[in-house]
Amino acid sequence: MTSAHSDPSPVTVRVPAKVNLELLVGPPREDGFHTLSTVYQAVNLHDDVTVALDDDWTCSVTGPYADAVPTDSTNLAMRAARLLADEIGVDTPVHVSIAKSIPVAGGMAGGSADAAATLVACDRLWGLALSTEELEEYAAELGSDVPFLIRGGTAVGSGRGERLAPVLARGSYHWVFAISDIGLPTPEVYAECDRLRDRAKAKAVQPEPNSELMVALRSGDPHVLAPQLTNDLQEAAISLRPELGEVLASGMEFGALGGVVSGSGPTVAFLVEDVESAIDLTVALTATGAAREVRKAIGPVHGAHVIPARVD
Ligand code: C5P
Repeated sequence: MTSAHSDPSPVTVRVPAKVNLELLVGPPREDGFHTLSTVYQAVNLHDDVTVALDDDWTCSVTGPYADAVPTDSTNLAMRAARLLADEIGVDTPVHVSIAKSIPVAGGMAGGSADAAATLVACDRLWGLALSTEELEEYAAELGSDVPFLIRGGTAVGSGRGERLAPVLARGSYHWVFAISDIGLPTPEVYAECDRLRDRAKAKAVQPEPNSELMVALRSGDPHVLAPQLTNDLQEAAISLRPELGEVLASGMEFGALGGVVSGSGPTVAFLVEDVESAIDLTVALTATGAAREVRKAIGPVHGAHVIPARVD
């Protein structure tokens, strides 16, 4: 074991949420995961994760979603800190404090984002100076979309979502997210997808990225991108939470260019033309009461990065 050295001041990392512009789900693999072809975009709904040297491995969570997040060793951020310490041979415990603003169990990778942020923060705190590639390798051990939250921007994910390739994307996109009350566990949504396919006798094919989506991203035009938004988990999410179908229909009726369930849901993502349309849609969706909370965001944004320390 090597002991930690270097800067002992706490390190704060800001990390974005993600939306899947395309999520194509192939057949289940032997390990239970599904082969994916997905296009991720990082959006500016952020968690801030601070790590500080401490006597023991501990975790705390603040913010509107704090009650829904465990603070024991099952917290993915805690697992990230312990994994990195074990792999590198660091024996200096940390306190991880998460200022949570990304919806929990919403299909926006909130837990994965905290794990990504913790890896980046511990790397700095412990003075490890790991490369992004090395951090992404540890990230992949923690979850399929953790590497993307380190990288950010817009990227294609393959394998189970952890193998990343960059995408040439122009411009900024305006999003409105309708956040539901009840979380939807990711494994249940994948299982429902398999069940619906079995019932329809539909054979899952090996997914390939859609070239029209790549062309749309190069155009930088939300009108071109909107019709390309796709999610193979959407039907399964709606089957488990039929009210999501109504949220999608309302968003389109109120002027969204496109709408899609985000990841495994239940958050619904709407692409809009500009900031004014985002405000209008936010007001209209809020008034229906169909979603617990409606939030605007812009993508793409950077992945997990160190910011000046928070003053609480
Ligand atoms: O990798 P992650 O921990 O985010 O995955 C959570 C769950 O989602 C997995 O346990 C699995 O049930 C499902 N999943 C899957 N195929 C993927 C990614 C996730 O079946 N490619």
